[in-house]
Amino acid sequence: MKATTNKLVIVGVGHVGSQVLATAVAHQIASEIALIDIEENRAIGEALDADHATPFDYNANINVHKGTYEDCADAKVIIMCAGPSILPGENLDRLVLAGRNAETVKDVMSQIVTYTKDAVVIFITNPLDITTYYAANHFGYPKGKLFGTGTTLETARLKRILADRYHVAPASVQAFMLGEHGNSAFPAWSMINIGGVPANQLDQYFDVESPLDKEAIGKEVVQVAYDVLNGKGWTNTGIAMGAVRLAKAVMFDERFVGPVSVTLAEEYGIAEKVSLSMPCVIGKNGVEKRLPLPLSPEEVSKFKTCAKTVRAVLDSIHI
Ligand code: LAC
Repeated sequence: MKATTNKLVIVGVGHVGSQVLATAVAHQIASEIALIDIEENRAIGEALDADHATPFDYNANINVHKGTYEDCADAKVIIMCAGPSILPGENLDRLVLAGRNAETVKDVMSQIVTYTKDAVVIFITNPLDITTYYAANHFGYPKGKLFGTGTTLETARLKRILADRYHVAPASVQAFMLGEHGNSAFPAWSMINIGGVPANQLDQYFDVESPLDKEAIGKEVVQVAYDVLNGKGWTNTGIAMGAVRLAKAVMFDERFVGPVSVTLAEEYGIAEKVSLSMPCVIGKNGVEKRLPLPLSPEEVSKFKTCAKTVRAVLDSIHI
């Protein structure tokens, strides 16, 4: 059954899923939102709470309700948030979640494909590139219709850091973090610019307190995720905004260009079977086009390191 309205299904309404719900309501990207969680009362409570946000006059009359996997049948977008996250103080590498969350993915995808292979599925569940690769390649889902948020969030973090350094709006920073949603993610400095001024010339045009340290900024983007985690116990606001931005691009067929996690097809000479983030065009069919934009030799080498890292974990759980 095809989606006839902008219906969103959110699977898992813990810290991340409930923030995705709040963000989706606030940005009015859906006319109906169905919530699925193994704890039905949590889904009922979150739906009721969101219901009480919709009567305010600047909000659309969004129908938010507890759902079941049958709600996937006419969904336009499904956002997958279910599964445990890493905890403060734990081994600060999302990859440690691979075994546990592969089981979660199997349970969820087995249910989704029972009702649809038409909805666009956006993965958030970590370790993101692992869960996305597994879901996209082991359940017969159409290519492009399932992708992961990938380095969408790292890219936002990079834009925030560069915007603060150069005192401009983050939206004026053209930048991508690429590769793994995780510790090996890297800034594609060769493509970064502000107002068309390339990264290597930025210090000449803007007032800065210290010379641009590319390596330090790349490490800061990765580390800041753990600063959030150690500060509040989880991360949810940034990732929810990123996922809703991508879902909006699907709902309204925007053809938005963003770095999302897709199964590589030997881009950049990478032979490993992995999902990693590269720039893509996102529209009503999910990934409408992949953009293997030119990278410097150093950036291709970093991309290959990401591929080896992710493939090693996939091998360790036999996917
Ligand atoms: C983070 C989680 C979503 O980077 O992996 O905040």
